Amino acid sequence: MSYQVLARKWRPHNFSEIVGQEHVVKSLINALQHDRLHHAYLFTGTRGVGKTTLARILAKAINCANLQDYNPCGACQVCRDVDEGRFLDLIEVDAASRTKVEDTRDLLDNAQYAPNQGRFKVYLIDEVHMLSGHSFNALLKTLEEPPPHVKFLLATTDPHKIPVTVLSRCLQFNLKRLSQEQIFGQMEFILNQEAIAFDAPALKLLARAADGSMRDGLSLLDQAIVHGNGKVTADEVGAMLGVVAQQPVGDLLNSLAAQDGPGLLKVIADLADLAPDFGGVLRQLLQALHAIAVLQQAPIHIDAGLDSELIKSLAAKLQPEDVHLYYQIGLLGQKDLDLAPDPRSGFEMALLRMLAFRPVMTGNLEAHPQPDVKPIPVPPARPAPRPAPVASPPPREAPARPLPENPATPPAAQPLPAGGDWPEMIAAMRLESITKQLAQQCALHSIDNHNCTLLLDPAFQTMLSPMRIEKLQTALRTLRGTPVKLTVLVEKPTTATPAEQLIKQREDRQQAAVEAIEADQNIQALKEHFGARVIPGTIEPV
Ligand SMILES: Nc1ncnc2c1ncn2[C@@H]1O[C@H](COP(=O)(O)OP(=O)(O)O)[C@@H](O)[C@H]1O
Ligand SMILES: [Mg+2]
Ligand SMILES: [Zn+2]
Repeated sequence: MSYQVLARKWRPHNFSEIVGQEHVVKSLINALQHDRLHHAYLFTGTRGVGKTTLARILAKAINCANLQDYNPCGACQVCRDVDEGRFLDLIEVDAASRTKVEDTRDLLDNAQYAPNQGRFKVYLIDEVHMLSGHSFNALLKTLEEPPPHVKFLLATTDPHKIPVTVLSRCLQFNLKRLSQEQIFGQMEFILNQEAIAFDAPALKLLARAADGSMRDGLSLLDQAIVHGNGKVTADEVGAMLGVVAQQPVGDLLNSLAAQDGPGLLKVIADLADLAPDFGGVLRQLLQALHAIAVLQQAPIHIDAGLDSELIKSLAAKLQPEDVHLYYQIGLLGQKDLDLAPDPRSGFEMALLRMLAFRPVMTGNLEAHPQPDVKPIPVPPARPAPRPAPVASPPPREAPARPLPENPATPPAAQPLPAGGDWPEMIAAMRLESITKQLAQQCALHSIDNHNCTLLLDPAFQTMLSPMRIEKLQTALRTLRGTPVKLTVLVEKPTTATPAEQLIKQREDRQQAAVEAIEADQNIQALKEHFGARVIPGTIEPV
């Protein structure tokens, strides 16, 4: 016996078997109920969400002799003929296959003749956007004056390629992408019916990879059954899809939350034994971090392919600003992965970086409270964020950091009198543009081998982000060759910032240029003898 692919075998035969798309099904049943069918329907949506399936069911329902609750009965001659693809009054045209398109006009010419078997002649034109201009014209002519016994069911993934003249004569239904839960449910149902063993995490992975398309999901399931020799398990599916199971991702995040460097390295080493696609693992990690960040703001659960208990416990353990920082580092790490000597070391470095750096922008605020210093507010992302989520990261015991802070020698900050060589330091650090702009809006308050404090004018506090501070700190460490801890205080500097100095310099040069022009004897002569004048705003220093 030949194997029939699952998507074919389990194509729904009536409205109640359709998964999701309730909005469409409801309208169609309503129309059937009140006998108010439109003469042309257009089903749109991405691949594999039920367009063709729905159109066929509607074709059946329109002609079925024995509707059951407005569902085609499945038993009458019409239903059986449609299901077996030999119902004479259902004319299916696949616009995507060229050969048949040439016949479209002939087919449409026949529309005027009465149906053979049923009440209505149904034209189902799939991938209708592929019709040629001629065919569209023929279609339009029939749509303009449809014979009463004709219904058009059009389906397409690309509605914007359809002429408006045609669109405006159709009732359009947009089918939605199916959720991971819906795809999961359908797979579970089918596997139970087929008596095939499976585990739930495997279906979760498949449902996620289906990316909203039931057909894609079922095709992957076909593959997984072959791959797993008749069983569907997370390990096999993971190997097939090139992703690792959820456990290591959870372990990685737990080690990060505990600032446990050796533990983290052990998880990575174990992971490497599975020879996974490290880019894929990093993506999974990012998805999990995203889910955690969302959960920390609002109790919305995002399915990151991780179990929700784990996400919940991580959301409670991790500081929101750490989550954002890890996400940023992970994102950048994706780019570095290709450049790294090998994917594993690239992955490892990204995770070690997460461990090494934490936002430090409020680090000194508690230690040395200053009357005028406001904590740095994070821009309110959602209506009711937690109050100042960055206010107080709890102290972590014995952080495993590659850059020790050496608390033995007390910091001896020497305030620099006039902002000193801060502009020179900025130039030497070779910062990238936005970090550089931030640095230029700051004045140097104090610096020694352990601590550096900058003052940032409150007017520019929106420029602050953990990422930029981290970059600046990294650059400072490189420049000074010591593990300097950077603190940025939002407080109006008393000395001019490099940005202000630049503006001042520019103004001075401009002033000098204007004065030079006015003092120029030739210009004075021109003014005197010819009534010349200098047009304001046209003087530029060279
Ligand atoms: N909403 C759905 N409910 C159940 N199965 C579906 C659904 N959408 C698609 N499928 C499955 O995918 C297969 C292809 O669906 P089809 O209707 O041809 O998709 P398309 O939207 O590309 O026309 C069907 O045979 C069925 O197995
Ligand atoms: Mg289709
Ligand atoms: Zn029937």
